[in-house]
Amino acid sequence: MTKLGWGMIGGGEGSQIGPAHRLGAGLDGLFEFRAGALDHRAEAGRDYGQRLGLDADRAYGDWREMLEGEKNRPDRVDLVTVATPNATHFEITKAFLEAGFHVLCEKPMTMTVEEGEEIVRTARAADRICAVNYGYSGYSLVRHMRAMVARGDLGKIRLVKAEFAHGHHADAADADNPRVRWRYDPAQAGVSAQFADCGIHALHMASFVIGQEVARLSADTVSCIESRTLEDDAMVNLRFDGGAVGRLWTSSVAIGRQHGLTLQVFGEKGGLSWAQEQPNQLYLMPLGGRREVIERGEAGLSPEADRTSRVTIGHAEGMPLAFANIYADLAEAIAARKAGREMDPAADLYPRAEDGLRSMAAVFAVAESGKRDGAWTEARPPMFR
Ligand code: NAI
Repeated sequence: MTKLGWGMIGGGEGSQIGPAHRLGAGLDGLFEFRAGALDHRAEAGRDYGQRLGLDADRAYGDWREMLEGEKNRPDRVDLVTVATPNATHFEITKAFLEAGFHVLCEKPMTMTVEEGEEIVRTARAADRICAVNYGYSGYSLVRHMRAMVARGDLGKIRLVKAEFAHGHHADAADADNPRVRWRYDPAQAGVSAQFADCGIHALHMASFVIGQEVARLSADTVSCIESRTLEDDAMVNLRFDGGAVGRLWTSSVAIGRQHGLTLQVFGEKGGLSWAQEQPNQLYLMPLGGRREVIERGEAGLSPEADRTSRVTIGHAEGMPLAFANIYADLAEAIAARKAGREMDPAADLYPRAEDGLRSMAAVFAVAESGKRDGAWTEARPPMFR
């Protein structure tokens, strides 16, 4: 297969998430990094792009310049990753979709539900892929959990418990540091801080694994550091459209917790437990049985797990490889479209604009419910009611 062209907006030198995208996109040799507008400072972006190997005329100073420069090139990029700060995602993603590019947008996809619906409509009208980077859903054993639930290994799912609780904003003395403060300022962060930043990862993972979407929720949101306007901790009760009950805790003041994304699924016949910090082991507890350890890369797992496992059992695979699995899904989706064939169903699992939209509806529902003392609130976007 000829390599697909890949471009990136944001993810400049020193950014948090840029390197994981470059590792992920580059891992399988499916994409070639051809264009970028990597930094909000034009010269820094051009310079860094060239140091990463871009041709000088494709190391752009800003995203509009990149759109103009790429759209009429015969070798234009196939996929554009948007890894800029949240408030810019909508405008950039919409513009690239309308110009006929496939897009992988960082989460949260937009700042409002209306913008989310607009992105879904734009992607559908343009017949382009718009994916959202819920990258943790790329882990091999997360794919395996999904396959186990889908084939009924746990029976009917009763409960799902998801956490994304870390302690990196727990220092009250540092709360006014501008790098931290903006996240809890509604003018810059929107209606939610911690749930919009981390809670949506946990919610997406719960939905992805059990194959159900959240229908309504009740949230207890608090600012443990009192100077904050937006929440730094939330406990959310969920009801899914397939009947499952959900419990979700997200926090940025849980001192001692590092990343803190975990998932537990409980069905009629057994339970599963997985943690992002030890992603190569999955724990299965069959009803009336003993705890079993499922190792990434072992024989006899699902096709979805086999496809996303790269190195031999016993060697750790981590987050950039989970991102690589999202990129591999997207490469397969783009190649299938180009060839006019069906895509491999085991790859058809990348998170979509529809998931990004559902997340935004949940963010607004959490904010609303939190203000109303945990009142049960509709969590579906109007488009999907
Ligand atoms: P960051 O602040 O570390 O880096 C942002 C980068 O974007 C910088 O290089 C900056 O110069 C560049 N930039 C800003 N505005 C730009 C513009 N208009 N055009 C071009 N470049 C621009 O931010 P971080 O933490 O890397 O987050 C970026 C996005 O990724 C956010 O939306 C965040 O929510 C998301 N993220 C996702 C994660 C995941 O697991 N999926 C994890 C961490 C962040």
